[in-house]
Parts: sequence; C-alpha cells; structure tokens
Amino acid sequence: MISNSTFQARRAKLMAQCRPSSLVIVPAASQVTRSNDTEYPFRQDSDFWYLSGFNEPDAVLVMSNQLEGNKIQHSAVLMFVQPKDAHAEVWHGRRLGTASAPKELGLDEAYSLDSIEELLPELLNGHEHLYFSLDRNPAADALVQAALAECKAAPKQSMMAPNTIIDVGPILHQMRRIKSDAEIALMREAGIISADAHKRAMRFVKPGAFEYQLEAEIHHEFAMRGARYPAYGTIVGSGNNACILHYTENSEQIKDGDLILIDAGCELQGYAADITRTFPANGKFSAPQKALYQLVLDAQLAALEQLKPGNTIADGMKACVSVITHGLVDLGILSGEPEDLIESEAWRTYFMHGLGHYLGLDVHDVGIYKHQGNDLPLEAGVVITVEPGLYISEQSKAPKQYRGIGIRIEDDIVIHATGHEVLTASVPKSICDIEELMGSANTL
Ligand code: GLY
Ligand code: MN
Ligand code: MN
Repeated sequence: MISNSTFQARRAKLMAQCRPSSLVIVPAASQVTRSNDTEYPFRQDSDFWYLSGFNEPDAVLVMSNQLEGNKIQHSAVLMFVQPKDAHAEVWHGRRLGTASAPKELGLDEAYSLDSIEELLPELLNGHEHLYFSLDRNPAADALVQAALAECKAAPKQSMMAPNTIIDVGPILHQMRRIKSDAEIALMREAGIISADAHKRAMRFVKPGAFEYQLEAEIHHEFAMRGARYPAYGTIVGSGNNACILHYTENSEQIKDGDLILIDAGCELQGYAADITRTFPANGKFSAPQKALYQLVLDAQLAALEQLKPGNTIADGMKACVSVITHGLVDLGILSGEPEDLIESEAWRTYFMHGLGHYLGLDVHDVGIYKHQGNDLPLEAGVVITVEPGLYISEQSKAPKQYRGIGIRIEDDIVIHATGHEVLTASVPKSICDIEELMGSANTL
C-alpha cells in the first residue's frame, strides 16, 4: 500500500522540479461509455493516481509552488472533487466530498468540481508558468483553455495569465520510470499472483477447452488473490492464433497438439504484471515445438544476461537476435550467413516486436528510452519486460513442421545496483518444468 506521505512526497518532488511561479494541473480520468448508458470499469489516470492515490473520476489536482500574489488565498496543493450528493451517491456510488478530501488525501484544500470554471482563472492568475499535458484529456483541455482565455481577457491590472505552457509529462514520467522500494514490493506481489494464475491455467487446460475458459481461470486467480482486474486484455491464443500478437478474441476451442500462448498479468493497486508463457495443450511438447521453444528460451536467457545497470535494452536485444538468428539457420527456417541475416534483419519475419518495455502503472509504462539519440542505460529501480518470441504462421514459408506455432516467453525484471531480479520467476519456463507441472493436472 502506498501511503499518503508518499503521495505528498511525490507531489513535493514534482513541484520542486518546476520553475518558480508555476501552477501544475493534473486531471483524473473520466468514466468511459461501454454501451448506451453503461460504462467500462473505471480506471484512474496513471499520472493522477501516482500523485494522489484517489480513485474517483473527473477530479482535478492543482498544485502551486507560489503561495503569494494570487487573488484568492489558495494553498499549495488542492483538488477539485465531485461534491457530496445523496441522490447521485445512491445511484452511482460513494463520493469522498470536499469536507473529507483534505484530510483523507493529505491536501491543503478541496473544492467542488461545480466551482472549477469559476476558480481556475483565479488560480492561474499570477503564475508565470502552467505545467499541463495537452491532448491527453479533451475535457481538461477545454477547461484549461477556457480558464486561460478568461485570465488573459481580464484587464492587465487585475489578472496575469501564465505566459508559458509546459508539458508536465517529462518530469512526472522520469519520476515514474524509477520505482521506489514500495512500488517494487507491489510489483513483486503482482508478479507472484500473475505467475500463480499462469500455473493455474497450465494445470486446467485440456484439448476441447475454449480459450476464454483459460482466460476465466486466470482472472479467477487474480481476483481471489486481491487483484480484481487484469492490467491489459488477456491473450489466450491456441495453435495458429498464437501468431497474432495482440489476439484477444480468445474464442476458439483448443485442439490436441496445439501450443497455447497466454499473455496475462494482474493489476495490483494500479501496478501491472505482464507475463507470457507458451505450453502444450496436452502437456507434452512435440519435437518441432520443443526445438522452437528452446530457441526462444535460449534467446531470452541470453538477453537477460545483458540486462544490468549501465547496459541498455538494445544490448539485450542484440544478444537475443544473435541467438534467434543462429537458431533459425540451424533449424532450416532461415538460410544464409547468420551475420548477414542479423545485418539485414531477416529474423524480423518471425520476431516482429521489440525485446521489452517499461512496466509500472501502465503496462507499456511511461519513460523515455532514448536521450539525444542514445539508448538510456538501465539503472536501479527501472522495471522492464523481457519478451522474445517466434511466430511462424500457417501461411509462412518455413518448413511445414514449424508452421502454426507461435511462442513468446515474457518475464518482468527490476534492475538492482548489482544486476536484476526476475519478478515473475515462479512460473516455470523450461520444457521439463512445464511438462512436470502439467503432469500434475487436477491438483488445484
Ligand atoms: N501484454 C502486452 C505486451 O506484452 O506488451
Ligand atoms: Mn509486454
Ligand atoms: Mn505481455
């Protein structure tokens, strides 16, 4: 659990990096319509969550690093929240309200969202700079632009509008890129829960089951372990479906002899896990499946060896691509000199995505990968995925025995000062460990 004092410290750290005389505005997410008058489950905006831990829609966090000179006596950190409303709360759920928000969230003040149009121009007044991410939230964009216009239109003696608008994203996202010990502890827990969910699916599967039934097993484990939602759309692809990178239909019946690719991770207090495992529906890899699987695993292990402070994700990718290319030549799937095939990126026919990505409050987490054209070195506290794959669809020109096989092996790692820790190590990935676990079917 991230404490209120942590949220306060994050806000203070952000404000300290903004220019003096700045107002920072970070809006919450809104509900999203699913159909007619029903909505998708609410998911808070990750930036807003990172700074507040508050899970209501439409709120707006406003922070100033200038305490004097404004017309209204506002404090350093305030929030506009949905007002208490007995009728609305009976229909739509509880609201924290303006009276409780300051104490509960560690704010200086809270105002009703009903007053935001009136108060925002006054809050902008007197600040030289506005930090706000445009083009992320259309409703917030409209609100801020209207407030700026009002502030600018006022007689110059009475109001001074900020003269620069700066994206708050880069500062905030650099903070989010490096995880604290408390965040890593949550992500470790998310990794364990997600690993157990994959094990549950491996034990449950049998030819004849539907892909969505494995999805249900996975989600059941998440919820029973305190992580109600998956961090992204669960992928359960059997046979050739495993060659569709973001397959989420999950509607087919699993056949004997299929390999099944499951890419699933839970979200725990906002933090994502992201695991992929690939295993045989009947519990035993065939010879071609074994050969390809071992190749992906060897490539992942080669990449993992590179992932430590000072090295880059590109270093891991280079090691991974070398193993993949040599292996594809050995299996007769690519022909030519491995070094030439690496150079011409011939491997991309069968491995068409990157090695991995940052992981955190977003599954494809924020944070820059390059600075001035150079890959950013890994450093302690960075969490990334490591996820090589091979996807040889039924339409491919590879030797027949390899067609219709998609394999990805994905783990999450946190970089420590001396190397890395695999957060998702408890789900098996060697051929013999997977076959052994699957041999223990029906022992849930
Ligand atoms: N689950 C999405 C990804 O692996 O990037
Ligand atoms: Mn991933
Ligand atoms: Mn994934």
